[in-house]
Amino acid sequence: MVELKSTRDREKMRHAGRVVAEVLVLLRQAVRAGITTHDLDVIADREIRARGGIPVFKGYHGYPASVCVSINDQVVHGIPGDRVMRSGDLVSIDLGATVEGFVGDSAFSMFVGEPPNERAAELLKVTEESLYQGIQAAVVGARLGDIGAAVQQYVEAHGFSVVRDFVGHGVGRQMHEEPQVPNYGTPGKGMLVKPGLAIAIEPMVNLGGYQVDVEDDGWTVTTRDHSLSAHFEHTIFIDADGPEILTAIS
Ligand code: MF3
Ligand code: CO
Repeated sequence: MVELKSTRDREKMRHAGRVVAEVLVLLRQAVRAGITTHDLDVIADREIRARGGIPVFKGYHGYPASVCVSINDQVVHGIPGDRVMRSGDLVSIDLGATVEGFVGDSAFSMFVGEPPNERAAELLKVTEESLYQGIQAAVVGARLGDIGAAVQQYVEAHGFSVVRDFVGHGVGRQMHEEPQVPNYGTPGKGMLVKPGLAIAIEPMVNLGGYQVDVEDDGWTVTTRDHSLSAHFEHTIFIDADGPEILTAIS
């Protein structure tokens, strides 16, 4: 069942979204060659709690950290550890927090230093833009297939591929609520978008093929062909005025 949110819920979700956005800014500033992915987890955990939030990833189906840090051919769900970030790495950082009982969920990708080549730089840009294509399609009266198609068409027009095995989702009191929000689809198909729908749209885009595998740690998702992958995510709230990005960096 899809739970539509009230105006009061929306206020709380704005707060949760703001906390996530603020901490993502700090994480972006912290990224540089020589630090470990665990260093980012320490910052994420501390800064979420300092803002009255609870890291929602920690303990989720046994996930052991407060942030996901996925590097190069890692798509999503990379577990922070002793891996050292190097110049030219493509790092994807995904963060979620519960604040006042509601969840904000957002992710971005960036390079450590300069991108290694032009195609890698393009992958990052196209993935971020594909998220905004999806958000623009998320209006009352549209269907979920319109959102997925908007993302997919944009990505594939640039010669990249969208991951199928992981999708966006409804978000609210829980991180993962109905409906699923695929980054691919057919215009005019799928659930109707209604006022009060809160969803996380999160395109995962590969430079090569769309196929992925889960590593032996049970979490880390990697591109099958080991091509680079990027990931951008926002939590949005939709009403008659259009989509509001709750995790926007102001
Ligand atoms: N944004 C991700 C998602 O929606 C993060 C979940 S990581 C987990 O799936 F460890 F908490 F599962
Ligand atoms: Co998500």
